[in-house]
Amino acid sequence: MTIAIPQNEIRLEDYRPTDFVLLTVDLAFDLDPQRTIVTSTIAMARREGVDREAPLTLDGDELEFVSLKINGVDAEPHAVTPDRLEIRGLPATGEFTLEIVTAIAPASNTKLMGLYSTNGVYCTQCEAEGFRRITYFLDRPDALAVYTTTIRADAKAAPLLLSNGNPVDSGVLGDGRHFVAWNDPHPKPSYLFALVAGDLGVVEDDFTTASGRKVKLAIYVEHGKEERAAYAMDALKRSMRWDEERFGREYDLDIFMIVAVSDFNMGAMENKGLNVFNDKYVLADPDTATDADYANIEAIIAHEYFHNWTGNRITCRDWFQLCLKEGLTVYRDHEFSADMRSRAVKRIAEVRLLKAHQFPEDNGPLAHPVRPRKYSEINNFYTATVYEKGSEVVRMIETLLGRDDFKKGMDLYFERHDGDAATIEDFVACFAEVSGKNLDQFFLWYEQAGTPEITVASQYEPSTQTLRLELEQSIPPTPGQSSKQPMHIPLRVGLFESNGEPASPRAIEGIEADGDVLNLRERTHTVRITGVKSRPAISVNRSFSAPVNVRQQQSDRELAQLARIETDLFSRWQALNDLAMRHLVSATQKAESGEAASANRELTDCLCAVLADRTLEPAFRAHAITLPGETDIAREIGNDINPDAIHEAREALVAQIASHGRDLFEEIAAETRPAGDYSPDAASAGDRALYLACMSHLAVASGDPSGPLSLYRSADNMTLLSGALAMLAHRFPRSPEAEEALADFEARYRDNPLVIDKWLTVQATIPGADALSRVKTLMDKPHFQLSNPNRVRSLIGTYASGNPTGFNRADGAGYDFLAGIVIDLDPLNPQVAARLLTAMRSWRSLEAARREKALDTLRKIARVEKLSTDVRDIVDRMIG
Ligand code: ARG
Ligand code: ZN
Repeated sequence: MTIAIPQNEIRLEDYRPTDFVLLTVDLAFDLDPQRTIVTSTIAMARREGVDREAPLTLDGDELEFVSLKINGVDAEPHAVTPDRLEIRGLPATGEFTLEIVTAIAPASNTKLMGLYSTNGVYCTQCEAEGFRRITYFLDRPDALAVYTTTIRADAKAAPLLLSNGNPVDSGVLGDGRHFVAWNDPHPKPSYLFALVAGDLGVVEDDFTTASGRKVKLAIYVEHGKEERAAYAMDALKRSMRWDEERFGREYDLDIFMIVAVSDFNMGAMENKGLNVFNDKYVLADPDTATDADYANIEAIIAHEYFHNWTGNRITCRDWFQLCLKEGLTVYRDHEFSADMRSRAVKRIAEVRLLKAHQFPEDNGPLAHPVRPRKYSEINNFYTATVYEKGSEVVRMIETLLGRDDFKKGMDLYFERHDGDAATIEDFVACFAEVSGKNLDQFFLWYEQAGTPEITVASQYEPSTQTLRLELEQSIPPTPGQSSKQPMHIPLRVGLFESNGEPASPRAIEGIEADGDVLNLRERTHTVRITGVKSRPAISVNRSFSAPVNVRQQQSDRELAQLARIETDLFSRWQALNDLAMRHLVSATQKAESGEAASANRELTDCLCAVLADRTLEPAFRAHAITLPGETDIAREIGNDINPDAIHEAREALVAQIASHGRDLFEEIAAETRPAGDYSPDAASAGDRALYLACMSHLAVASGDPSGPLSLYRSADNMTLLSGALAMLAHRFPRSPEAEEALADFEARYRDNPLVIDKWLTVQATIPGADALSRVKTLMDKPHFQLSNPNRVRSLIGTYASGNPTGFNRADGAGYDFLAGIVIDLDPLNPQVAARLLTAMRSWRSLEAARREKALDTLRKIARVEKLSTDVRDIVDRMIG
């Protein structure tokens, strides 16, 4: 019998401001790996109107209390534990100072939250609640203060001492120690605090802002890796310029620093003036990074930089408002990448990602609104919903308002809320105000979880040249929200006449239409569109104007036609994808009943036509011929999933396409075969993507690993090399060719952990039940370390969430293995452990036998007595 341990649930409606306000914070660190002494001197005052007797309660987490002074005089706290410091009898009015001394041990901080050490470098991660692992504090985003930080450390071990803001003092101390002091003039919450100390190499540059201020730029990396930071530096400068041009946002300190570290729980962190990055998102050169790595670096450098305004200058009132900074900043980085690369291709990639990660989350036990109303562990809410759906919600505001009013709304937001800890209401009010539009119903996008489903039925009357559309929206129930209100959904719709030309309707009745945007507000709309001269092909949700599922009766012919004639490139891809999806779903059904998949001329012809169309950019064609993934197919099928049947069906279709289009694949491969020096730009990357897609189909068509092997041997950049490696390992596992390449790759890159991660991932994602024993063997290799999040994610994370057949073994051994890792890792690094476990979030959609095994495993985890709040929260919500 399991006893549910009551969780400490935090609720949005319980928000109240602090009783005390911060004025300044002076931090002094005496760095030592085993025992760092932190002296925090806080000037503060009781907020006006607050009870004169009210105590001050500060947050802590695993802290050792050393001493307390009030206004310079030794004092005793009313109560103190590692997690909490309570002080009573503070002055009723006026300013006072607290001096709090704590002791912490960075070298044994395996949670990588607070101050920890990684490869001999001290570094911090404070978002969301890591600052309380450094000192007792009002560790919440609405407690802003100006910080001064003095770092004292051994000069040899840590020649470099960094914190937020501008350096203001430095000098030599006795005993071989030295110090540097930093001052950050911009008030900030504690989650944006950062400290880095160690011996690192640096790449320096500068940037002159629009108003002519010269800003020093510095990227710190391990010695010897400086050259690999060049692309990150370039991306940073482009980001700074773009934010000025697009949003009028200038940088606001004299120096901007980025530090790359090798042990990091997430991608990167936007600490004021001192961003800390997972080195995976900084380091790149053609020999070690793929095109995808370059694109990620560009996007994440931009993302963290953009936070300087959307997150730092304007921060969040509380953690329920996380999407205020994350959704908006993802929107901004998406726009940046779209401007740097191909907009349509970027949109396709975004939507693929959204559907692969956010849609399943929204459709399972972990579903939550973009702005949740309760949480028991905030770390578990850095989700695809808050980030990616949050970004889509901002994009919808832009769609509703148009580009100009959207820009005005952003300007108003920056002007009105600079220096504030704001809410989603504050943000949306700016757009309502500048546009005069009522966004009350739209606000439900922040409050209702679940992916809306829109069904579209159409009827064309030739005699009156009228098209009737029946539109119906419904939102599935999600945890804690059984019934939903209809939402305001901006749905872009295009009509194409039988001659392929876009229709130009005379009138649209029954719905508020704005250009090609239909504003759905009711559960159902009957729309009459007149002046449509022939029965049109109907393209719904063009450029993915809303994050919804569309159900529409369409024949293969109509989809194929749209794939040919849509003027919106994204929608051409969408049509192809929908067409492929329906064949994949029916092929899966056949595989389940043991039938062979039949040939699909409509689909293969359609794919080949796009492949052959040289007017289309190669990156688009590469996307177009890549079938939906196994997880996408599972999502489409929805329940009673048998991952083996999906795999079999998809493989059969890939084989059909490969053999049907063989000559064309040869031809296109010859045209796109890379020549000359590697360049990471989007067009060259697109050529490589198309080339690899062709090579992969050719390998399938020939059934011969020698093609990919010679590609492997001749590759002169990581994109081609790892692409060839994946073809060999996935298509020809256990072949001598695959073994040769895997062994060569390991030998070549054994000293580069980030590249070894690719080697781990390739093997963890080899389809089939054998994957588990491979993963176990790889765990015993010296390359693997449970303490390093990148290694764990590359091997175990990709096995559990990127290998449907390997992980969902019918015997449940994949689930049990994951449970074992989660339980072992939990005491070391609960955040990463909890994240790994989310790989099982769609367990309820599996077929009965696997579902039962998955539930057994989840129950087994739930029975463990000492689980972190992170894992406890996930497992409880998953069992539900
Ligand atoms: N704010 C960071 C970013 O998105 C991510 C921080 C993640 N924090 C966490 N506790 N998971 O740029
Ligand atoms: Zn962010």
